Amino acid sequence: MIRDLTDDEARRGLVLKWGTTDPDVIPAWVAEMDYALAPPVAAALHDAIEAGITGYPRFETEGGVLGEAYAGWASRQFGHRVDPEQVVPVVDVTAGVRVALDVLSEPGPMVMPGPAYSPQLDVAQVTGRERVDLLLDPDAPRAEIDLDSLDQAFADGARTLLLTQPHNPWGRVFTRTELEGIRDVVVRHGARVISDEIHAPLVLAGAEHVPYLSIEGTADHAVAVVAASKAFNTAGLRCAQIVSADTATHRRLTDVPMVRNDSWSPLGVIAAVAAYTDGDAWLDALRVRLSSQRDLLARLLAQHLPEARMRPLEATYLAWIDLRAYGHDDPAAVALERGRVQLAAGHDYQPGLTGHVRLNIATSPERLTEIVHRLATALTPGTTSNS
Ligand SMILES: Cc1ncc(COP(=O)(O)O)c(C=O)c1O
Repeated sequence: MIRDLTDDEARRGLVLKWGTTDPDVIPAWVAEMDYALAPPVAAALHDAIEAGITGYPRFETEGGVLGEAYAGWASRQFGHRVDPEQVVPVVDVTAGVRVALDVLSEPGPMVMPGPAYSPQLDVAQVTGRERVDLLLDPDAPRAEIDLDSLDQAFADGARTLLLTQPHNPWGRVFTRTELEGIRDVVVRHGARVISDEIHAPLVLAGAEHVPYLSIEGTADHAVAVVAASKAFNTAGLRCAQIVSADTATHRRLTDVPMVRNDSWSPLGVIAAVAAYTDGDAWLDALRVRLSSQRDLLARLLAQHLPEARMRPLEATYLAWIDLRAYGHDDPAAVALERGRVQLAAGHDYQPGLTGHVRLNIATSPERLTEIVHRLATALTPGTTSNS
């Protein structure tokens, strides 16, 4: 069910990931997948173009087909009951985070566990807030949010936690117990949570996503920002959703002037509804493929880059790899120059961090194998990586 794009198809279709690299470079950086669109999503989009749906979307900020489709999806995928009326469209997830911050949060600093999804490193600042980093110790055996540091950040005046779960680039799926621990700290300080759950559909074999809003006692202090776009490769279609579980919060989100939130696209809505309604089987196949890519990566690293360190990848198709043992400050730059493979540099996710890369495994097994061979050859010149 998962069809690999050929190089030519990928170069034509994925205009950022493939279209901006030289022809001899294999791209494994930005979070897009080298797979053909899910057939139900492609069919819905074809029909929409055929029907000429290229004008403004319906400016419904609550419920509608999108709300119903998301509520059905959340119930089937996560066993989570969502009120369809409390699903608000927004242009993309990062914009949703910004709107939630602007509209719902007090002006104090925003806490952000890091390393973190790079464009969101600036979201606090553009809303006039300070960012407080909760940085992961690169040597920590497990990637966890340190509750004492979170408590201290709130005690020092922070008012919002930007929770990314599952986390990019940590690859973690936070457990119910961890989320309850976070809730307890947040409630103690009367703070807010914005839970970016864009990677929720991309939980791999062995883990289970728990929506933050499904934890008791979170409805009055949290919203989730969700989208089908990451799991279904439709980021360019521009549609995400802010989900609330509390009428007052919902009212605050919808009582905003139109200029604050009016940029989602009708094709994005159509793709999201198709994915949420008819995408389950394709997504199951995708998760099987990605789980097997994850296992392949572990084998390849063990064989060709045995000093690489990687915590278990529980979700996302973005592997966070510690390559400090190979002695390069910027291994992504070395990989591009000597290996002709483009990874994302660790310092993009945590300014100043050396020796780390993020590698996108959502490609074919053959390409992933070649990517690791090239990386190994680039980082350890003189040793031959047996392909
Ligand atoms: C955690 C996280 N949030 C948001 C995004 C981007 O979403 P959008 O393009 O809808 O802002 C990404 C992209 O990979 C991400 O990893």
